[in-house]
Amino acid sequence: MSGKNYSKAVEDIKSTVNIVDVIGSAITLKRSGSGYMACCPFHKEKTPSFSVSESKGFYHCFGCGEHGDVIKFVEKYYNLDFQSAVEKLCSQYGITIEETIGPSDKKKEEYYEANKQAARYFFDRLSKSANKGYDYMSGRGLTAKTLQFFGIGYTGEDWTGLVDTLTKNGVRKDVLLELGLAAEKNGRLYDKFRGRVIFPIINVRGKVIGFGGRIIGDGEPKYLNSPESAVYQKKYNLYGLNRSKDAVIREGFAILVEGYMDCVSLYQAGVENVAASCGTALTPEQAKLLKRYAKNIVLCYDSDNAGINAALRGIDVLREAGLDVRVLNVDDGKDPDEYIKKHGKDAFLDLMNRKAIPGVEYKVNILKRSYDLKDHTQGIKFLKELASVIKALSPVEADIYIQKYSKEFGISEGALRREVEQSTGEKTSDVPVRRTAHPEEPEKTRQPSRTQLNVEHMLIRLIMLRPSFYERIGAYPEAFVSDRGKSVIAAVGNFYKDGELDTDALKNDLSDEDLIYLDRIEEKIQLGEDLEKSFMDCLSRLESARRAARIEEIDAIIDMSDTLPEESLDQEYINKLLMEKQQLIIRNKGEN
Ligand code: GTP
Ligand code: MN
Repeated sequence: MSGKNYSKAVEDIKSTVNIVDVIGSAITLKRSGSGYMACCPFHKEKTPSFSVSESKGFYHCFGCGEHGDVIKFVEKYYNLDFQSAVEKLCSQYGITIEETIGPSDKKKEEYYEANKQAARYFFDRLSKSANKGYDYMSGRGLTAKTLQFFGIGYTGEDWTGLVDTLTKNGVRKDVLLELGLAAEKNGRLYDKFRGRVIFPIINVRGKVIGFGGRIIGDGEPKYLNSPESAVYQKKYNLYGLNRSKDAVIREGFAILVEGYMDCVSLYQAGVENVAASCGTALTPEQAKLLKRYAKNIVLCYDSDNAGINAALRGIDVLREAGLDVRVLNVDDGKDPDEYIKKHGKDAFLDLMNRKAIPGVEYKVNILKRSYDLKDHTQGIKFLKELASVIKALSPVEADIYIQKYSKEFGISEGALRREVEQSTGEKTSDVPVRRTAHPEEPEKTRQPSRTQLNVEHMLIRLIMLRPSFYERIGAYPEAFVSDRGKSVIAAVGNFYKDGELDTDALKNDLSDEDLIYLDRIEEKIQLGEDLEKSFMDCLSRLESARRAARIEEIDAIIDMSDTLPEESLDQEYINKLLMEKQQLIIRNKGEN
């Protein structure tokens, strides 16, 4: 993938740009103590409580709590997104943002062309003469018109049909390999997709970027998807949006479903504003893509546990992108495809109008289900969870939900309000959430240490041996520090379901580099008998690293307080930080 190397640029900014310069050109800084101070630009105040540390490269406001590094300041102050802030700083300070090494546009065109030819080949095989693919699809209710509209194709059991046709048309071997259309054995190429119906994945610009192939009938893996390639990055695309985007604009909202079949089936039934996330957890990039077309989303996932968990995660991702989310659980059939086939368009739309509920309420309903509210202690736990859900809302929304839920659960508004104020907003929930590691933020540029890598490798080994560990590691996205580790754990998320991991499908899906990484771990990491103990060891090392990081942060904040005048310092706040630090030190001592 060609693009700009922002992480390199971030490193350059951090090592060459002086934070005092940057902030000083925006607001008036006064030298004081070991740093600089000012009246905070992010909240109203008369005495300065905004402090800047030149040596630490970091600002902190003791009044409103705003803090961060030079890039964060530029983002906040000039109202820019992360990349624009990096670009602004680079252009001001003469830092060049390098192009990441990746295929040129010309090369990409070659890939698109090859994919287009493959799509044509698959489509011809489905549409020109009798075949199992066509029978299977019509058996599932799709019309010839729909098959053509989505370009759905078929490939038989033979080993080289696609390879032969495309090679004859001049498609080069390494292109076939890179796109995951072919694999190589004993120096010979063979088709990767065989005996499947094929859904071409087409981006909103109309380019064929990959394929999803469903096995005909039962078998493993049920779906075989193209690997990521120079032209296909899963996190940026949604299946079907190329066809549905006009309807999404027209209706003012998009319906997001889990599978190719759900998407195609809803569309055919006349519910056209639909797209599918295709087995991966929804990403912020996909949310941004949707936001181009509509501000409202209805999540309509499968009615199993995995679907519920995917919805819970999806709600957060979409809300963070500023989208309005409602959730619809179909109450008959396992997924929207089955529902609409059985009941038709009008019943589906009617169900949506009556039953799609706001994301927040959906979360609360799921929470409520996992506590016995008649039990006093559980009731209190639930209340705390409720408070942390409300904590994440805007003040206006929070107010509405405080009123609603205090009535509903018979607690006073004041009590719920106080609980919300005290809540850290962190989840303490037992609700089993299928998590996928967050896509990496370009900001983290520190090289991982040996210890960190070691923990990462142990965890991956442990998850391969006992997949249920995957759910318990969800709360520690920072555990995966290397690019390979992040990529493997994200893939694990796609093949994990209810305590089991489809390792064959996983390995099928991994890139060669990821596979080598996995092999090395399997060779290198020796574990004792007691897997649970090894796992707990990893967790306690992660916890202790979290505490160490927080101690560092507290130190930095306290150091910076000496830049401020006495009257703007809230001694109570400093004391609280000191106490917190002391606790952290004691705990970390106890564990080592
Ligand atoms: P049908 O059984 O054909 O109706 O498909 P579905 O969409 O109902 O499938 P399901 O709910 O099981 O999965 C939803 C989506 O997850 C699919 O559309 C695929 O994108 C993805 N998926 C399902 N099974 C696999 C698999 O074995 N491998 C991979 N890579 N993805 C899968
Ligand atoms: Mn289905």
